[in-house]
Amino acid sequence: MKQLVDKLHKTRNLSPEEYKELIDNRNPEVAEYLFEKARAVRVKNYGHDVYIRGLIEFTNYCRNDCYYCGIRRSNCCADRYRLTKEQILECCETGYNLGFRTFVLQGGEDRYFTDEKMVDIIRSIKANYPDCAITLSIGEKSYDSYKAFFDAGADRYLLRHETANAEHYGRLHPESLSLTNRKQCLHNLKAIGYQVGCGFMVGSPYQTTDCLVEDLMFIRELNPHMVGIGPFIPHRQTPFADKKAGTLELTLFLLGIIRLMLPEVLLPATTALGTIHPKGRELGILAGANVVMPNLSPTSVRKKYMLYDNKICTGDEAAECMNCMKRRMESIGYHVTVSRGDHKSIQ
Ligand code: 5AD
Ligand code: FES
Repeated sequence: MKQLVDKLHKTRNLSPEEYKELIDNRNPEVAEYLFEKARAVRVKNYGHDVYIRGLIEFTNYCRNDCYYCGIRRSNCCADRYRLTKEQILECCETGYNLGFRTFVLQGGEDRYFTDEKMVDIIRSIKANYPDCAITLSIGEKSYDSYKAFFDAGADRYLLRHETANAEHYGRLHPESLSLTNRKQCLHNLKAIGYQVGCGFMVGSPYQTTDCLVEDLMFIRELNPHMVGIGPFIPHRQTPFADKKAGTLELTLFLLGIIRLMLPEVLLPATTALGTIHPKGRELGILAGANVVMPNLSPTSVRKKYMLYDNKICTGDEAAECMNCMKRRMESIGYHVTVSRGDHKSIQ
């Protein structure tokens, strides 16, 4: 197995069969070997810097009904909220003063936020904080909408592909959603000029090693600037309430693989990873990740943006989260930096 890690390190690429062999035959020793290589590549490109993104969860209304997601339309128990433009700008102000230079506007697919409203919000943030990057994470939109947001000043867009296997996609989503459209959105975003992030959940129901291999092949083809992966965690009020969560171990292994595939990729150690293990985010960084995304949402709404059960940091003020994160990163010899943290190809 170590030869496969060496090959991946050298050539950045394995065949589908080789990825499958590596994943299926992984063990703690191979994993540690992989993480050493992934860390070396990460340190070569980004040193010991950890980029921070201020996450603003501005609406939990969603028109979609993804089976895994706690804010799906059919979850009538979800306590719905929307932040006003003023509240969003307050989050940015708090965040800016704490050292954030990227704001991630994340929300469900909420028709209330029309293109006009989004453009206005993006323009206002950019006017107040011209030195900051704006990342959007608001789902599937038309080419024209994506273009309008980009022209208003949005820099990056996160749209996890969720799974690159069409049949698997169909088991995670209602029929109204398709992998084809998802992929089209990602290609459109790239063509417009965004720094683009795709990604998937590790250990989502019905996922097989073959699905993961397809995810890796899709990532290779898309060549995104960012890849967001985290463990699937069941939410009590969804059809997947009784499904098993993804594991820390497999998520870390995939983070290591992705770092070797895309040496310069922006790779977050996600909140979901921090939720399934108390040291999940630190371990994610040590497996090759280089981004963390502390929450800037007002504490009054934190508990309402529950994509999965037991989400961490829901009671903490932005400043507390930031300090906690700084300490956590220092404890493993890494440092949170004040910078936009663009992909190497744009710096
Ligand atoms: N567990 C883990 N991640 C989830 N997401 C949604 N629901 C869950 C869950 N139950 C992820 C999806 C989505 C991102 C915003 O959150 O991958 O793209
Ligand atoms: Fe939020 Fe630790 S990062 S409390």
